[in-house]
Amino acid sequence: MYDLVCVHCGAVYPPDEIIYNCRSCGHLLAVRYPLGEISIDRKTWDSRPLSVWRYRELLPVRIPPVTLNEGGTPLYHLEKIGKEIGIPGLYAKHEGMNPSGSFKDRGMTVGVSMAMQLGKKSVACASTGNTSASLAVYAARAGIPAVVLLPAGKVALGKVAQALMHGAKVISIRGNFDQALEMVHDLCLSHGLYLLNSINPFRLEGQKTIGFEAIDQLGQVPDRIVLPVGNAGNISAVYKGLRELESLGLIDRLPMMTGVQAAGSQPVVRAIQNNLPEVIPEGNPETVATAIRIGAPVNAEKALTAIRMTGGTALSVTDAEILSMQRDLARLEGIGVEPASAASVAGIRKMAESGLLDRDEKIVCVVTGHLLKDPETVINQCEPPVVVDADISSLLSALQL
Ligand code: F0G
Repeated sequence: MYDLVCVHCGAVYPPDEIIYNCRSCGHLLAVRYPLGEISIDRKTWDSRPLSVWRYRELLPVRIPPVTLNEGGTPLYHLEKIGKEIGIPGLYAKHEGMNPSGSFKDRGMTVGVSMAMQLGKKSVACASTGNTSASLAVYAARAGIPAVVLLPAGKVALGKVAQALMHGAKVISIRGNFDQALEMVHDLCLSHGLYLLNSINPFRLEGQKTIGFEAIDQLGQVPDRIVLPVGNAGNISAVYKGLRELESLGLIDRLPMMTGVQAAGSQPVVRAIQNNLPEVIPEGNPETVATAIRIGAPVNAEKALTAIRMTGGTALSVTDAEILSMQRDLARLEGIGVEPASAASVAGIRKMAESGLLDRDEKIVCVVTGHLLKDPETVINQCEPPVVVDADISSLLSALQL
């Protein structure tokens, strides 16, 4: 059986205790498996479909899971963009192809299953959008109520639409994500809802499977894995999973974990580039990539470890660079992602241009959410459709034929 361990002071808690922060020091917890006792037969994994649940021996769920077949997302070779920036081994793992259109589903299938396993009757989260959409979906699947808190006016349309349609109680807070997270945390502690933000250690267990799948699909450990960073849960999760594979002797090296933030919201980048022991929160984060508009990332401690222990790095990209890469992915590669997702590939373009990486590296960029999540940002960048009369000559003249 696994237990929960404080990432800071090492205090240990039983797996069925509902606890999000260490009682001694207040830091976050992580799931720890008795890796020496787990026997994983590589052939058994390979015989199962590519999905979160392929790796169930390294997941905490012991009941039939609440699932919609999440994971198993495509790994695309970015041939044209790779050629243009001079990196032939450039890949994108399209997490927008999950059931609700983002990587959050990997965390929620595990997190909501754990809510059921622990006997919880309702779930909640704060969100820049995708977490709320995913929680609404999995709560519906489980048949339990969900409450989601959103920063008013700062959540992309598709994500709000999903949370509403799947039946969550949606509350918009006159404040930013960081404030919404504090509020929902208090609400969960005082009223017994199960908190499914990334401070929940079980949710990150599901997300770590992105790294497992990337290795299985690539047939080798990539030299670098690149993720957009908001609350810094996903980069921490992927690193934790890969450390487990390394301890089990299933891989023999770790990729350089590389985090990309938006220029208007880059506390993790500042901590890495200035070699600070911890992040200094930003009071007014701002970016077109609203998914990662987060000034006080709760998983920063874990993320700094992930980046530093793998010789990785963190860098920021401007909104213009993000949108330009969103268009290039869409038009050159046929891959439709939301702005935050394009940040990972935009970060690699920037590193390549500045000579900050080896051009022979095999690089997996995680593109985290689907294009349709944020239709407004798409419409704002594109020419509107040409309207013509319903006759062939008007059509031909519009097409300049
Ligand atoms: N990309 C997308 C599309 C996201 O929605 C998020 C986070 C991230 C990247 C960053 O991941 O927070 O683990 O560093 N979205 C959260 C939400 C915060 O509420 O949907 P992270």
